[in-house]
Amino acid sequence: MKCLVRVARLRTARFGGMLRVMSRSLLPDAVERYLAVEISRETPLQRRLREETSHLPDAGMQIGADQGALLAMLVRLVGGRRAIEVGTFTGYSALAVASVLPADGKLVCCDVSEQWTSVARRYWQEAGVADRIELKLAPATETLTALIRDGGAGTFDFAFIDADKTNYDAYYESCLKLLRAGGLIALDNMLWSGRVADPHVHDADTDALRDLNAKIRDDARVDACLLTVGDGVMLAQKRSTQ
Ligand SMILES: C[S@@+](CC[C@H](N)C(=O)[O-])C[C@H]1O[C@@H](n2cnc3c(N)ncnc32)[C@H](O)[C@@H]1O
Repeated sequence: MKCLVRVARLRTARFGGMLRVMSRSLLPDAVERYLAVEISRETPLQRRLREETSHLPDAGMQIGADQGALLAMLVRLVGGRRAIEVGTFTGYSALAVASVLPADGKLVCCDVSEQWTSVARRYWQEAGVADRIELKLAPATETLTALIRDGGAGTFDFAFIDADKTNYDAYYESCLKLLRAGGLIALDNMLWSGRVADPHVHDADTDALRDLNAKIRDDARVDACLLTVGDGVMLAQKRSTQ
């Protein structure tokens, strides 16, 4: 376990002369480097957003290029037109999702930071996807509750959850209501640098994620699978019979 946590530490690495701050990953450095440098399919705009974000003290919150590609593929696979994001930061994951929505598609982004999302807005504008994104600056529980209250239940195809960990269960429950049958929820950080697998670790974030992993495992409302991509991405697809 110690070993897992060691390789999963937040890493700052210099790849090809450019400073890259890596998101949490359980992979050894060499494999992480292979993924990020040789296999990554980032557009020049995505690369610039990653580079600009790398100068922020909280840069490690950004998802990896492989996760961006995964989100885009998942949205395509479910035929996504309407999506939700909980936790936007400087906009990388939202850019990946919005770029594969149809022109009349919609992504509702939830965040509380004007400062970080002002970076996101610039990149969304430049990518030509700003008109598909509705950014709600408020605690995500409020935004999701309002979406449900205003008739949004059953109308979304995809949700990505990547914000404060102690509220993940509440986000999961709200997103499940908002999804149509067959819709997909992706939750980031579900391995939490391996801490969820260590029964001796008990802090609010770790306990919340460990409990939610177990809850989703036993949840008859979804089909689920935990991918060991990045810091662990749980996929939960809403079943049609509930
Ligand atoms: C891990 S970052 C998201 C990274 C982003 N998905 C990306 O690809 O770069 C988490 C974000 O959640 C936001 N956040 C934290 N607590 C929140 C809350 N209660 N409601 C909405 N957003 C919140 C933070 O402001 C931060 O931008």
